[in-house]
Formats: sequence, C-alpha cells, structure tokens
Amino acid sequence: MNFLTVILQAKHRKKDFHCGKPMLDNYLHFQANQDIKRKLTACFVYPEEDTNLIKGYYTLANNTIPQSKIPDNIRRKLPKSYKAIPTTLIGRLAVDIKFQGQGVGKLLLIDALKRSYLASKRIGSFAVVVDPLDHDAVQFYLKYGFFKLPDSGKMFIPMKTIGLLF
Ligand SMILES: CC(C)(COP(=O)(O)OP(=O)(O)OC[C@H]1O[C@@H](n2cnc3c(N)ncnc32)[C@H](O)[C@@H]1OP(=O)(O)O)[C@@H](O)C(=O)NCCC(=O)NCCS
Repeated sequence: MNFLTVILQAKHRKKDFHCGKPMLDNYLHFQANQDIKRKLTACFVYPEEDTNLIKGYYTLANNTIPQSKIPDNIRRKLPKSYKAIPTTLIGRLAVDIKFQGQGVGKLLLIDALKRSYLASKRIGSFAVVVDPLDHDAVQFYLKYGFFKLPDSGKMFIPMKTIGLLF
C-alpha cells in the first residue's frame, strides 16, 4: 500500500509549519519529537519534495474508549466483558495555511485511516477516534463519516467502515 506521508525526520522544517492553531503548531515545533522518543505517539508528515516544508501532519497512538460511551446500535454487537474498547487515536491533524483548501486535509485523513486500518490487522482496534479542537474541526470530521461520542468531545469511525473504503 502506498502512503502520502513519511515518518517525521530531522530534515523536515518543523519550525516553518503554521496551521493557524498555535496549539497544533507548538506541538510539532516543541513536543512531537519528545513524544516519539518516549513512544507515546507516531508522527507522520506530508513534505514538499524539494523544500522539506511540511504541508501537513498527523499523529497516531493506541487508545481506548469506555464501552459505555459507544452508541447503543454499535455497542450491541460488542462483548459486555470488554469495558475498555481498543481504538486508534488520531491525536492531531493539521495542514499548513499555505496548503489549506487544496484537498491536503482530506488526503492526510485518508492516509491516517489507511495506516490505522493496516495496523488493526496486526493489533486489534475497533475504531479510529479523533478529539477535534473546535467546531470547524468537528465539521471537517463529520464530512468523512465520523460520529460524535456522547458525553465527550471525541468522534469516532468504526474500523469495519474504514475497511469498506479500502
Ligand atoms: C481542518 C483542516 C485539517 C482541513 O484541511 P484542508 O486541507 O484545508 O481541507 P481540504 O481542502 O482537504 O478539504 C476537504 C473537505 O473538507 C472541507 N473542510 C475543510 N475545512 C473545513 C471546515 N473547517 N469546516 C467544514 N468543512 C471543512 C472542505 O470544504 C472540503 O470539502 P469538499 O471536498 O466537499 O470541498 C485544516 O483547515 C487545518 O489544519 N486547520 C487547522 C487545524 C485543525 O483545526 N485541525 C483539525 C484537527 S484537531
């Protein structure tokens, strides 16, 4: 399977990345490498080939969500003994301002879902979860079939649904 992104490397120009949300910029500038070293997250970037400018990035990590938070129609099919359901978290996803509105966000999301789906064949994961930063981000994920998790700002899409896409 081909991927748009590669693992974040020293040559990528982290400090030149600006998406308009300081929290997401600062994460890439100051924290991503430490989290990677500590094995808390994996970070993938979509670099511009000649310049190594980062068009966009996302992070992936293992995660769980309480079964009680999953909507009834989906929860019914899950064994009751699984109190915490294994999932994959897209912790952050952002596109540099210069490249927004050109389909990069969509491509990054597809890339992240593809990696998550492949990983779920080796390490169980029931769904991909996102934790949208604000209303705009919620609208973005709704567009791609994510559901809101009740009583939390998080959203998810079942891995089975992702499997149908690929
Ligand atoms: C949200 C974000 C990732 C979208 O990336 P992008 O490259 O601008 O989006 P795309 O050009 O790929 O757009 C894909 C689709 O999503 C829609 N879309 C993009 N931003 C949207 C928004 N804020 N609200 C609703 N829809 C949005 C586009 O209209 C497009 O739909 P279309 O294909 O029907 O035209 C980008 O704007 C961003 O990085 N924002 C700041 C960080 C952020 O909020 N990240 C969200 C995760 S916390």
